[in-house]
Amino acid sequence: MCGIVGYVGPQQAQGVVIDGLRRLEYRGYDSAGVALVVQGGTVVTAKKAGKLANLEKVLADSPLPASTTGIGHTRWATHGPPTDVNAHPHDGNAHRIALVHNGIIENFADLRARLEADDHVLVSQTDTEVVAHLVELQVQSGEDLTTAMQRVCQQLEGAFTLVAVDSQDPDRVVAARRNSPLVVGVGEGEYFVGSDVAAFISHTREALELGQDQVVTITRDGVEITDFDGRPAQGRRFHVDWDLSAAEKDGHDWFMRKEIFEQPRAVADSLLGRRTRAGLLQLDEMRLSDDEIRDVDKIIIIACGTSFYAGMVAKYAIEHWTRVPVEVELASEFRYRDPILDYSTLIVAISQSGETADTLQAIRHARTQRSKVLAICNTNGSTIPRESDAVIYTHAGPEIGVASTKGFLTQLVACYLLALYVAQVKGTRYGDEINQVMGQLEAMPDHIETVLSASESVYALAREHLDTRSVLFLGRHAGYPVALEGALKLKELAYLHAEGFAAGELKHGPIALIEEGLPVLCVVPPRGRDQLHEKMLSGIQEVRARGARTICLAEEGDTRIEPYADVLIRLPQVPTLLQPLVAIVPLQLFACELASALGHDVDQPRNLAKSVTVE
Ligand code: F6R
Repeated sequence: MCGIVGYVGPQQAQGVVIDGLRRLEYRGYDSAGVALVVQGGTVVTAKKAGKLANLEKVLADSPLPASTTGIGHTRWATHGPPTDVNAHPHDGNAHRIALVHNGIIENFADLRARLEADDHVLVSQTDTEVVAHLVELQVQSGEDLTTAMQRVCQQLEGAFTLVAVDSQDPDRVVAARRNSPLVVGVGEGEYFVGSDVAAFISHTREALELGQDQVVTITRDGVEITDFDGRPAQGRRFHVDWDLSAAEKDGHDWFMRKEIFEQPRAVADSLLGRRTRAGLLQLDEMRLSDDEIRDVDKIIIIACGTSFYAGMVAKYAIEHWTRVPVEVELASEFRYRDPILDYSTLIVAISQSGETADTLQAIRHARTQRSKVLAICNTNGSTIPRESDAVIYTHAGPEIGVASTKGFLTQLVACYLLALYVAQVKGTRYGDEINQVMGQLEAMPDHIETVLSASESVYALAREHLDTRSVLFLGRHAGYPVALEGALKLKELAYLHAEGFAAGELKHGPIALIEEGLPVLCVVPPRGRDQLHEKMLSGIQEVRARGARTICLAEEGDTRIEPYADVLIRLPQVPTLLQPLVAIVPLQLFACELASALGHDVDQPRNLAKSVTVE
């Protein structure tokens, strides 16, 4: 996720800003930039794709003038690949202001079209540049930067943190936030804004937390906060007592735990901007025409590991909503079986990193057979989307923990969106049905939040299992891939024997593994659908009768499960197809806590790499 720093005070801003950006590097980024306000009425900018070292080389080769007011940015590409021109800060055609941004402006395409109709020349592919033009228009009409920011924020839809400076107002930095992080650092005669406190804790530990839809102005004299209508507002003052490493993790002990808690936000971000005003589903980046989608008569999903399990869930959703047959295949196996492919087969390649060699080789093979490839990917500018015909980006932000968590949830969201989009184009679902599912998806961040609020009881459960050597996971239907993913998390983090099974398959062999006290985690489907629930209860009874300790994840209000659950973890009531979005969360928490309590390195488990770039 992008990192943002702003500074005004007595120190040289360039050093403070670069130092802040370095401390935000852990957030992951693909380009960086700074802008300084120079006395006498100019803003100077330097920006460069790649690591901060690239930017520092630019600054060393062409030093910027002295300045005590500045902003900086590390970019995690969303709209437009990671290039010099797409790097922030951005400005308007008069080069009067500079602006940086974290988040997604949902209505940027409309705003951009309006600006271009008024002869504005936009040079990047970003949504951010549109906002820079709008803010510049306001200040040129005579407003101060604070009022300009308030007015522009009222026109924006989506989630954003914005920070801007104005060449004509050299001692002021203005920032705004909606659904995206921003904190203010309060020093002695100097003030900071940052994506999080890591941006400034080497200078001050006094901070202000901002509320939703607020604009903050920092000058050497202090801080002023308003809402988007200009009415005065208050921030909450707090003292930061974390050390730097805890600050980077937002107070969590592991990046993985932080990322688990970021999931409501990541899911919400992945849903942003997907519906037009007319209520139709739109997938901006997807470059397949409606005719190409109508021609698709088979879908093959290829992926590895956690992404493969997201693909297994996708099969249920796509087949249900579109009636198009779906195969799900491990990327590492795909091309060696000489798959039957042609132009009417759509290949969906799911990859968080976009660099997994097995998946990359599989899509290269598919393209030689004339199949279209659509990538579902979290990393803008990576190889797999570059080599695909179409892409849907997930908006999880960088995932630093090696074990995938928010990557998985946002892949599920992208798969649901793809399924609904194909249904819309092929006409296999009515518009109101699609809208109903979209509404259910939009409610998921709150449901995930509810599951997270019960994390302490899951942690306590995990700590009861420090001596366990083997754990089984059971699921049915969309809960089966959840069982597999729950087992994978435990294997990779806690180094335990963990296996996931389709509950109905147990009696065909694996039930022989059950012995007294063996923990069996059971993902219970919601009630009332295709007898799935009843069948799952039978499977649970079978293992319990043989001495297993059943730990059941079941929806609120499911009383039928109570006699068969030694431990019950409640899930919110959601439709069966969407249940993986909530059911996986306790399993992630369980694995994270157990591994942590066993003393393992949760973020970098042994033998594993975040990006597997060899076959
Ligand atoms: C497990 C995990 C891996 C990845 C797999 C594919 O927690 O992270 O199983 O899911 O290596 O990686 P991507 O999605 O980057 O292609």
